[in-house]
Amino acid sequence: MRVVSGFFICSLIVTIGYILGMLVFLNDYEENRCEMTYMYEYPQFVRIKHDADHRFRKYGLYAYSEGRFTYDARNMKFSGIPVLFIPGNAGSYRQVRSFASVSLRKSLDDRPGFHFDFFTVDLNDEFSGLNGALLYEQTDYVNNSIYRILELYNSNEKSRPKNIILFGHSMGGVIARGLLTILEENIVSLIITLATPHSRPPLMLDSYMFDYYHKLQVTNKADNSTIVSLSGGYNDYLITPFITTAKYLENVHVFSPSIPLVWLPIDHLCILWCKQLVLVVTKGLFDAIDFNTKQISQDPEYLRAVFHHHLVNNNGLKIRKSIQSVHSTSSMTFRRGRSEWMENLQKQYTISLRNGVQETQYHMIRVLDDADYRYLTILTLNLEVVEWAFACAANELQGQHRICSDGIHLSHLSQISPSVRYKRKLLNLDTHELKRNYTEVTHVVIRVLPTSEPVTIQIDRYFEPDRKVEVKLPSLLSFQRNLILNETHEKALYYELMVPQLTHIIQSYKIYVDPITCNAKQHHATASLIVPWGNQNIYKHFMEGDKNPFLVRLHSSRPINNNWNLSTSILLTLDPVCRYSVSSWN
Ligand SMILES: *[C@@H]1O[C@H](CO)[C@@H](O)[C@H](O)[C@H]1NC(C)=O
Ligand SMILES: *[C@@H]1O[C@H](CO)[C@@H](O)[C@H](O)[C@H]1NC(C)=O
Ligand SMILES: *[C@@H]1O[C@H](CO)[C@@H](O)[C@H](O)[C@H]1NC(C)=O
Ligand SMILES: *[C@@H]1O[C@H](CO)[C@@H](O)[C@H](O)[C@H]1NC(C)=O
Ligand SMILES: *[C@@H]1O[C@H](CO)[C@@H](O)[C@H](O)[C@H]1NC(C)=O
Repeated sequence: MRVVSGFFICSLIVTIGYILGMLVFLNDYEENRCEMTYMYEYPQFVRIKHDADHRFRKYGLYAYSEGRFTYDARNMKFSGIPVLFIPGNAGSYRQVRSFASVSLRKSLDDRPGFHFDFFTVDLNDEFSGLNGALLYEQTDYVNNSIYRILELYNSNEKSRPKNIILFGHSMGGVIARGLLTILEENIVSLIITLATPHSRPPLMLDSYMFDYYHKLQVTNKADNSTIVSLSGGYNDYLITPFITTAKYLENVHVFSPSIPLVWLPIDHLCILWCKQLVLVVTKGLFDAIDFNTKQISQDPEYLRAVFHHHLVNNNGLKIRKSIQSVHSTSSMTFRRGRSEWMENLQKQYTISLRNGVQETQYHMIRVLDDADYRYLTILTLNLEVVEWAFACAANELQGQHRICSDGIHLSHLSQISPSVRYKRKLLNLDTHELKRNYTEVTHVVIRVLPTSEPVTIQIDRYFEPDRKVEVKLPSLLSFQRNLILNETHEKALYYELMVPQLTHIIQSYKIYVDPITCNAKQHHATASLIVPWGNQNIYKHFMEGDKNPFLVRLHSSRPINNNWNLSTSILLTLDPVCRYSVSSWN
């Protein structure tokens, strides 16, 4: 009897554990906040015949077109930059629609002087993720399709493209990489993969699959091709986040919750039409074009810089300006004429321009030797000025004040910061380092151009050790919250919680950021998990009426490699109107 009850209790515990696990798993889904891409005209798919059609009657190659452009496509007249879409497991060639349509619209609206021609292969909606043999057939067909597409441009020898861009969804991205191993010439300069399992297939069911992946790893010919791999993060149930990375892929790999202006987990199919993502990737695609040749740039370093800018760290500048600023010190002469110069010596303060400004304003922040003022955080809300932050030497007399005649650009050091309300830009500066770099500098200056929109600028200067807290993660069996910060400093904007123990995907914690006292009804704080490896930062906003904690966890574990000794950290961008208490729980 005792044995039976022991067994029964064990079973009960296991069953309850299983049910709890299932509940956690089912709750572990953020609601889909992707917007739909809007269509203007009806999509048309124009069939393109080629030699391999005889061998593969089940497959087809199509050109994507809309409305009045269909006429050219039907006459096989193409004059843009070729892009080929490869669908994934059980995927349809029609899934190219969002990317193709948004790109067409952008070339009509922005008139950059070039456009993209989207092609797509019909792979018969086959289950390429379950059957390795199909991968070989599909790769063969896509290889022939690429040559066929490039032939379409033969009429115009001079501006004729010699390269193609591949877009692969899911297993389609694996085929794109497989093509690199068989193409004799270097004709694929850019591959963008969406939710592609790069390191291993979700299911390894046959030896063909194994061989295919094995070949990808041993013949890694990605030197002259840039591979950009995007993963939807935890909302993608089909492809576990960490198998979208591969150690031997030295290229851009990002998880969508981390992508500036996307900041969302995206599920496996939604990644094909999620408007926030499609827009950002399309911007990258347009910036990847060489102005001289009107074709995709042949410089892998430039391509990587473009996608790093749009997908990893976006400072809001135009790409060419951003690259230039990073590589050399450039300065700008401030325009004479109607402008106001202001200086505020407070340690923490907020500039509220509720009705915008009528003439250009320069807000000066003095660089002081005092360690209490060494670190400077500036958060701007709704400031649409692209070049807004400068360092300068105030040598010129204007009335009673000393002002600057020109300034060194700092805007490239800032970044677009996640937010629910308003566009936010964040700049963190070590002013002593700034002073070392440019000895004559006396001020940091924020430039506000005339606008009728409300603009807010928050400024926080501090002694770093006061704002940097090392956090011990709570043990697995703790039954109460661990207090991290009893009460944040008055008007503080910036805190950094170092979490060196967070290294593995099985770890998961909750961070609470609770406002204690607020001087306003509306407030907006953001916690960001900053992970030094894997482009996998995640964010959570804390506002009035939202008491949910920040669920902190990783998409991929820390690589086993001493170079990655850096610690994960949680950056708090607080609202100066509140003081908060911060605690953790598991
Ligand atoms: C790829 O296609 C081209 C053109 O159709 C063909 O010449 C070449 O042999 C193909 N490569 C492979 C590995 O099948
Ligand atoms: C990459 O391009 C360079 C020059 O264009 C060429 O010499 C080299 O062989 C190419 N590498 C591969 C792996 O194709
Ligand atoms: C100072 O110079 C270093 C090295 O060039 C650079 O990495 C850093 O961003 C500069 N810092 C500032 C605040 O200008
Ligand atoms: C936390 O702060 C409150 C006042 O805000 C104070 O009464 C309390 O003693 C503090 N607790 C700790 C552990 O410091
Ligand atoms: C890694 O960090 C530990 C402790 O923080 C330190 O002792 C060690 O020297 C570091 N290793 C490297 C390679 O930086």
